[in-house]
Amino acid sequence: AYEAKLAAFEARIAAGERIEPGDWMPEAYRKQLIRMISQHAHSEVVGMLPEGEWIGRAPSLRRKLILIAKVQDEAGHGQYLYHAAETLGATREEMTEALLTGRAKYSSVFNYPTLTWADVGMIGWLVDGAAIKNQTMLARCSYGPYSRAMVRICTEETFHHKQGKEMVIRYAQGTPKQRQMAQDALDRWWWPSLMMLGPHDSDSPNTPQLVKWGIKTKTNDEVRQEFIAEHAPELQEAGLVIPDPELRQNPDGTWHHGPIDWDEFWRVVRGDGICNKARLEAKNRAHDEGRWVREALQAYSERGRAQAA
Ligand code: 3HC
Repeated sequence: AYEAKLAAFEARIAAGERIEPGDWMPEAYRKQLIRMISQHAHSEVVGMLPEGEWIGRAPSLRRKLILIAKVQDEAGHGQYLYHAAETLGATREEMTEALLTGRAKYSSVFNYPTLTWADVGMIGWLVDGAAIKNQTMLARCSYGPYSRAMVRICTEETFHHKQGKEMVIRYAQGTPKQRQMAQDALDRWWWPSLMMLGPHDSDSPNTPQLVKWGIKTKTNDEVRQEFIAEHAPELQEAGLVIPDPELRQNPDGTWHHGPIDWDEFWRVVRGDGICNKARLEAKNRAHDEGRWVREALQAYSERGRAQAA
């Protein structure tokens, strides 16, 4: 009966086994994974927009090449993740529709503007840094296709992280103008990067079920602590000031930080952030402008089928 199947499923999770697409799984497990993976995929493709705006304005050919490679990587991560969600029965059409109509969530952090070139470096260091902590955790996820996608994505994110850190450190140790740009970028990206890792565990309705079934192997606050523990000392070493006067390390090694503005977080998640509207308009425009490609592919595959018949 159902109870026996659920018990067998939970025993597999407890034994550290990977659940694969054809395996039996509770409907709630499937739904949780479609929710998380599709939102993760949306985050990757929307995440291309803020930094993509700087490809035409990169200060050197080298920086332009690095940025093009990074944005292309993110498009690929989106494809992996949409495919991983499809293994659970979600369709590309449904997921695309949910994103374009504003119904689907994607990472709040991408609703902030990239005002100067230093933002591109800070996104690489902080946003990709937070993503690496989150995705390294998800690489141990109990669902096979998701955990395997994470292994590949994490290696590419490491390059994103290194290039951002290298750029920001150069600016922080550069001219006064460059240092001011790096500090201004830190002032605007520090808190959104903390929020990106999700609400506090006490306000995280999905975490208990996700941890129980091995989808999340660490909680939001645990991943946030890992992010702060790595990035706070390195940002300070680079001579930058973290915009949180309360930030300090506790005697037990954990980090104390000031209160996070969750009102801002929920406002942005609900669609009322600085760039939410612009991001959805850009995605809808790209979808419309790409219609001829989808139609051509459809016609080509139908002709191929007709000839094969
Ligand atoms: N932005 C938007 N919505 C968020 C959010 C964020 N930063 N953090 C949480 N939420 C939403 C959740 O989706 C949930 O809403 P829902 O139930 O309608 O989906 C609600 O807030 C409550 O939060 P929970 O903590 O209960 O949600 P989760 O347990 O799912 O934890 C999460 C949130 C840690 C983001 C988790 O969903 C997760 O690990 N997702 C997959 C990884 C991911 O999306 N990483 C960040 C973006 S990828 C990226 O940065 C690209 C890289 O190239 C830079």
